[in-house]
Amino acid sequence: MRILIVGSGAREHALAWKCMRSDLTERVFCAPGNGGTGGMAHNIPIAADDVVGLVKFARREGVGLAVLGPEAAVAAGVGDALRDLDIPVFGPGRGAGRIESSKAFAKRLMSEAGIPTPAFEVFTDPEPARRWARERDGRVAVKADGLALGKGVVVASSPEEAEAAIAELLVARSLGQAGTTLVLEERLEGPELSVLALTDGREVVPLAPARDFKRAQEGDRGPNTGGMGAYSPPAGLAEGLIEDVVGKVLEPAVARLRAGGDEYRGVLYAGLMLTAEGFKVLEFNARFGDPEAQVVLPRLESDLVPLMLSAARGSLASSPDLRWKAESAVGVVVASGGYPGEYRSGYPIEGLTQMPEGVIVFHAGTRYEPGRGLVTSGGRVLTVVALRDSVPAAREAALAGAGRVRFPGAYFRPDIAMETV
Ligand code: AMP
Ligand code: GLY
Repeated sequence: MRILIVGSGAREHALAWKCMRSDLTERVFCAPGNGGTGGMAHNIPIAADDVVGLVKFARREGVGLAVLGPEAAVAAGVGDALRDLDIPVFGPGRGAGRIESSKAFAKRLMSEAGIPTPAFEVFTDPEPARRWARERDGRVAVKADGLALGKGVVVASSPEEAEAAIAELLVARSLGQAGTTLVLEERLEGPELSVLALTDGREVVPLAPARDFKRAQEGDRGPNTGGMGAYSPPAGLAEGLIEDVVGKVLEPAVARLRAGGDEYRGVLYAGLMLTAEGFKVLEFNARFGDPEAQVVLPRLESDLVPLMLSAARGSLASSPDLRWKAESAVGVVVASGGYPGEYRSGYPIEGLTQMPEGVIVFHAGTRYEPGRGLVTSGGRVLTVVALRDSVPAAREAALAGAGRVRFPGAYFRPDIAMETV
């Protein structure tokens, strides 16, 4: 089968890597892919949100399964357009994708379906928003309604901080259209957990849980990023927690979407906070997490392709044969100096042939330049992943690998997965 993977990050490289291990796979195309996917699959120069280009390509090449990586592809309606051609798509249509692309939509859906989530209110005017924040002493999360690549959330500790965030979004319009509606949420405390599940719109099959590290700097300091690393499985999860999340979060969400006419096929990601009063949903994503995919997929023993295909066709078994490696996986992101702010690109990358044994490097912001070889081309450049018998051993190997990557300004967090020591 010919598989089209839409996107260009390390998540998509991990998906391509996993698909290449399937007997069902004849060829993998990545649109547009990166310097890593180009070496193992076929990169095609079509942007992830170029609906017309992707449709033409998929029809011409006889694509038998399309996999949507980034939210931009979901929000552009790539899934709907390919499904109109009867191509099985692993990834929701634009309607079901609102569970990620509109935080107000997601919060209303959670209220209606009785899914545990922090108390909230939706605002389009600054004054009532400021009042709501002041009543909570400024301990609120201020969230832009629309997609903002991880930059749309400010977790405030004081009324001044909350008011500044409200003013930035609603008055200065710092995120443009994405920030014209705000969600304010009570601020909670606790460790976070990412639970991703395959679904065909009815059945929900959880994958191994993961935890990502969103802040740029060691010790959870600095600005939020797309994710600086992840590990799986996280330590100290209560017995039965994942089953509980399936029954109280993922199944009701999928059922509610279906009731509203939006059948969800693909991977649904619940971002949870484990509070003293139980888990609460902070956000949904309509796709694999990045960097979660880079640590979850290498732990999966089973063939992913038939699973994605049956989810895409609406025929996922209620308990398919999912086998997992007992080993733990730790993924460390190597980023460009300055990310998530401004950074420079185009630097040659060295050291990739000197990885410790069994360490996998998934590319993100890389590309091949004729005559120069592999150069940096983005903020998150690579995810270095190690599987070992324990989290500390996996962390040590992943860090050793990350330390061997060389380009000017390269940085990574040395404390990914550290909490379990
Ligand atoms: P989100 O995109 O909604 O998941 O928010 C991004 C990050 O902001 C989360 O991963 C949390 O670390 C933090 N955050 C979001 N909402 C809250 C909340 N209600 N209380 C505390 N932290 C939050
Ligand atoms: N790692 C968080 C995300 O993919 O949105």
